[in-house]
Amino acid sequence: MKKKIFITRNIPAVGVKMLKAQKDFDVHIYRRDEKIPRKTLLQKIKGCHGILSILTEKMDTQAMDAAGPNLKIIANYAVGFDNIDLKAAKERGIAVGNAPCDEVSEAVAEFTFALLLARSRRIVESDKYTRLGKYEEWHPLLMLGRDVYAKTLGIVGLGRIGQALCQRAAKGFGMKILYTDMRQNKEFEKEYKAKKVPLATLLKKSDYVSLHVPLLPSTRHLIGVKQLKMMKKTAYLINTARGPVVHEKALLKALYKNEIAGAALDVYECEPTIDCDLTDRYELRKLSNVIITPHIASATIEARDAMARVAAENIIGVLKNRKAPALVKIK
Ligand code: DGY
Repeated sequence: MKKKIFITRNIPAVGVKMLKAQKDFDVHIYRRDEKIPRKTLLQKIKGCHGILSILTEKMDTQAMDAAGPNLKIIANYAVGFDNIDLKAAKERGIAVGNAPCDEVSEAVAEFTFALLLARSRRIVESDKYTRLGKYEEWHPLLMLGRDVYAKTLGIVGLGRIGQALCQRAAKGFGMKILYTDMRQNKEFEKEYKAKKVPLATLLKKSDYVSLHVPLLPSTRHLIGVKQLKMMKKTAYLINTARGPVVHEKALLKALYKNEIAGAALDVYECEPTIDCDLTDRYELRKLSNVIITPHIASATIEARDAMARVAAENIIGVLKNRKAPALVKIK
C-alpha cells in the first residue's frame, strides 16, 4: 500500500516534485489559494503517513488523532514549530521536522538588516513624504535619522539567524555586538568581538535590539513593560522571530510615550491581525516610527525553495528510514 502524504498549502514545486518522485508515496495537496478550512484539513489528513504543514496550521492532538495511527511525521514548512504540539507528537511516536537551512538564515538576516537600516534612516517615512509631494526644497534637518555604523546591536538569540545577522552587522557596518544565548559562542566572540551578556545588560546598552529566539513558554513576552523600560530612549526594537515574544500592548505604550525611538516588526502577537485589540487607543499602524511588514523575512525564492526541499527530505527520511535533515529534538 502506498504511503499517503498531505501538503496543507501550495509550496514551491521543488518540494512537491521530490515527494511525487517517490513511487511508494501517494501525494495530495490543498491547492486553493486560501488557508485550508480546519474541517477540510481534518478530513484530508485521515490515514496520512506524512503531513507537510505550514505555520498557520495548528497541529494539535485533534489533528494528530484525525490523521490516525499511520502518521509518522509532521514536517513543518518553517524554521519555527510553535504551531505543533510537540508533547502530543512524542506521545504518539510522531516525528516533527522543521526547515532550518543556510538560505533561510541568510534571507532572514538580510531582511532584518534591511528593517534596521530602513528604520534608522527613515526610508519608509521618506518614501511616503516624497510620494505625497511634500518635498519642496532641500533642508538641513529634513528626515534626520541615526547612523548605524559603530552602534551597538543586541542580538537576542545567537542561533543560525542571529549569527548571520552578527556577521553582516560586525563586518559590514562596524557594529559592536552584544548577545544573549543559552550557549557561549567563543568563535563568534573572537571573530566578531561579540560579547555574551545578560538580557538586562543587552537592553540597557544596545542601540538596536533584534529578536531571534523561537517561541517557547520561556520566551513568550520575553520583552514586556519591564524590559522596554530598560531600553535606551534612542533605541529601536526589531522583531522577525515570533509576535508573542513581545508583549505587543506594552510595546505600543512604550512607542506612544516615546520610551523607545521606534520598532520594525515582521510578526505580530495576534497574527495575521495587526493591532489585535481594536478598542485600544494605541494602534501600531498609526505610528510613523514603526515599520510593519507581513511576515516575509524568509520570503526569497532561494529560501522558500530550500525550505520546501528540507521539508520533503524530512518526510522521505522518516518514512524510508533514512537520515532526515532537520528533526526537532523533543525533550
Ligand atoms: C519560519 O520559517 O519560521 C518563518 O517564520 C516563516 O518562514
